[in-house]
Amino acid sequence: MSCILKVDSITKHCVLSASLLTVLGVLMTTSLAALAVDVESIDWSKVPVNKPRLYYPGQSSYQWLRAKEHKKAVEETKAGEACLRCHEGEQKSLGGILVVENRLEPDPIEDKSGYKRLSVQAAHDDQYLYMRFSWKADGDGPGNVGNLMRFDGSEWVWWGNHRQHEAVIDEGEPAIYPDRLGIMIGDAAVEFYPEQGCWMTCHDSMVGMAEQADEDEVGEHPVISQLYHSIGIPITNYLVRKYLPGSRTEGTEWAAVKSEDELMALRKEGAFLDLIIWDASMTNPAGVAADFNVLDIKKIDEGTSALWPNGEMRQGPKYMFDEGKVGFSALTEADLADPSKPKHLIVGQNTVPFDAGKVKEGDMLPAHVLDTGSAKGSAADIDYAKGVFADGKYTVVMRRKLDTGHPLDDKVLKVGGNYIFSFSIHDDAAGKRAHHVSFPVSLSIGPGKADIQATTLN
Ligand code: HEC
Repeated sequence: MSCILKVDSITKHCVLSASLLTVLGVLMTTSLAALAVDVESIDWSKVPVNKPRLYYPGQSSYQWLRAKEHKKAVEETKAGEACLRCHEGEQKSLGGILVVENRLEPDPIEDKSGYKRLSVQAAHDDQYLYMRFSWKADGDGPGNVGNLMRFDGSEWVWWGNHRQHEAVIDEGEPAIYPDRLGIMIGDAAVEFYPEQGCWMTCHDSMVGMAEQADEDEVGEHPVISQLYHSIGIPITNYLVRKYLPGSRTEGTEWAAVKSEDELMALRKEGAFLDLIIWDASMTNPAGVAADFNVLDIKKIDEGTSALWPNGEMRQGPKYMFDEGKVGFSALTEADLADPSKPKHLIVGQNTVPFDAGKVKEGDMLPAHVLDTGSAKGSAADIDYAKGVFADGKYTVVMRRKLDTGHPLDDKVLKVGGNYIFSFSIHDDAAGKRAHHVSFPVSLSIGPGKADIQATTLN
């Protein structure tokens, strides 16, 4: 039997499985369920590396791809032809064209790269899919600072934003936004997803796109604003988030959402996408990743995630740093560039209840807290996701149950099955659409006809 585990754990895992196999024979199938591999003992040097090409897509939305500007490709795209049929090997040149000012990029980011390779490795056992990613980050350091609130002497205000945000472009606020890796998972249950990948979820009405929906109208929409209202925080910037055309009654109109019953029927057919997001600031410090899904809206799965808003934000934070543990109660601007200063509030590790008496003008606190202790249900499925940043490069390892037990918001993966993955990377304080994305990539759980074949462990 092959052992794709590090030497120090061979005794623990491979020999154990081997002897069990001999002793228990057929009973193994049930016994194995308890024997998931220790993710930290996987020897990734024995697992093949696949390197999808990611590029900067500008505003190439679902609608643009079907408009006459997408020359000689409109009918084919409408009929579901694969992007790669025509664009194989063009990622680097597409990214180069789209990242600078052009018909699909009205707000170019200076010096942004148009192209990026992502290294992907995958392995599995009976219970889990294990994935390892690495990529070179565009930023100078780890982009591990998330949204911040700053006390201006009388009230708490947002501080910093992504590079294309007006507060950064027009008002001189610093570009602060966390680095992220997105992993979208689906199959042919979503029409055209295997051929056209994440472009099935990207629409002109979304933020920063050609026809961004009116924020007041979004705020008044009973379904599309649900997410914002559910957080219970008064905000004004209501945005349309990713959605699938199948969730709409009229074409791809953002406001024309199908009824709850129709949406549930689609979920039961698996006609939604699973979306895991690893975030250098908002999930990594707790060793987890966030579990979203996309149908009528991109939203966090059912249950409770580890990520919480830090109180009512503008009404004042709920937590601050525990001075006894980290040496300060709040961050200052100078601390942000100091790698020795913790940037994340982690309940149970470094937080105390907020005390207004301990802050002075200019102090800052993260707008989110991480609390893995209260995480549960489908939202907490990615219970292991650890990333490190070294020499300008990220390496992230995560695991995900093949069948999370939550089929209405997670894709059920089966040994021998073939699935379609799409990857995205946000870095160097880029937000929203200013990411690098891949064309669809196939991944098989075990040997298969796929770009990435997850190596079978034990
Ligand atoms: C039938 C072939 C075909 C298919 C399928 C196709 N394209 Fe294209 N695409 C083209 C052609 C031809 C152009 C035009 C090149 C030009 O205008 O110079 C183009 C242009 C583009 C551009 C603009 C590049 C620029 O120079 O401004 C983008 C972005 C793009 N395609 C993305 C996609 C994506 C994403 C998909 C899949 C959803 C897709 N295409 C599917 C043929 C195709």
